[in-house]
Amino acid sequence: MTHHQSTHDQHEINKQQSAWVIETRHLYKRFGQVVALEDINLQIKRGEFVAIMGASGSGKTTLMNILTCLDTVSEGQVLLDGTDAAALDEEGRRAFRSDKIGLVFQQFHLIPFLTALENVMLAQHYHSVVDEAAARKVLKQVGLDHRVDHLPSQLSGGEQQRVCIARALVNEPPVIFADEPTGNLDEQNERLVLGLLEDLHKQGRTIVMVTHNPELGRFADRIVRLQHGKYLGEEVNHHEAEHVN
Ligand SMILES: Nc1ncnc2c1ncn2[C@@H]1O[C@H](COP(=O)(O)OP(=O)(O)O)[C@@H](O)[C@H]1O
Ligand SMILES: [Mg+2]
Repeated sequence: MTHHQSTHDQHEINKQQSAWVIETRHLYKRFGQVVALEDINLQIKRGEFVAIMGASGSGKTTLMNILTCLDTVSEGQVLLDGTDAAALDEEGRRAFRSDKIGLVFQQFHLIPFLTALENVMLAQHYHSVVDEAAARKVLKQVGLDHRVDHLPSQLSGGEQQRVCIARALVNEPPVIFADEPTGNLDEQNERLVLGLLEDLHKQGRTIVMVTHNPELGRFADRIVRLQHGKYLGEEVNHHEAEHVN
């Protein structure tokens, strides 16, 4: 009994420890006099689709940069799958980014003189595994198999963003971060890109999407709201329609 109980407890502890993929504890970020983030305590579960919402200037991008190890905290802790981000050196942060996360930006950040295929393969290069067939496969996944040899300037905004998603996906990261991923897109491409993010979520990936657009929040499991750098509250979406047979 006792043994069984303690095994059970240990199991619960393991489950609890492994349940959180990303966590912040009393996180503060200051830029000189500007307090961009103030006492943020956030837990993002494995497989969750979280929208981080708030007006422009509320600290969304700052938070995203910290969660993806592109920036460091002024105070507090960031735990990435149990590892304290502060304990990572530059190489550790780089390894975390290339192994664990895919990034999708509002400004697509594609290399202008490389084709769609080459842009995706560049991400593989940084991950140290270059595989043209795999790069073609993800481009096909985002509906761009007929555009692999096009330069970014020869692609529409929606197509460029889909190249970015392919680039974010090619190393099969467990977590995708998207900062205003549809900010530069028309409505049709916005729906397309959201559809792709939803598919990725259904495949079991963790999605963290930053947006100031209330329309987009409903795609997430949970909406975390920021205001003036502070946690304002959160709400859970139940996606009732999906459970109707
Ligand atoms: N590098 C920086 N230097 C100084 N202030 C910054 C810097 N980055 C962001 N800020 C400030 O921090 C606040 C939050 O910015 P940001 O995270 O970009 O907001 P959001 O993405 O929600 O629009 C803003 O007041 C912004 O001006
Ligand atoms: Mg921003």
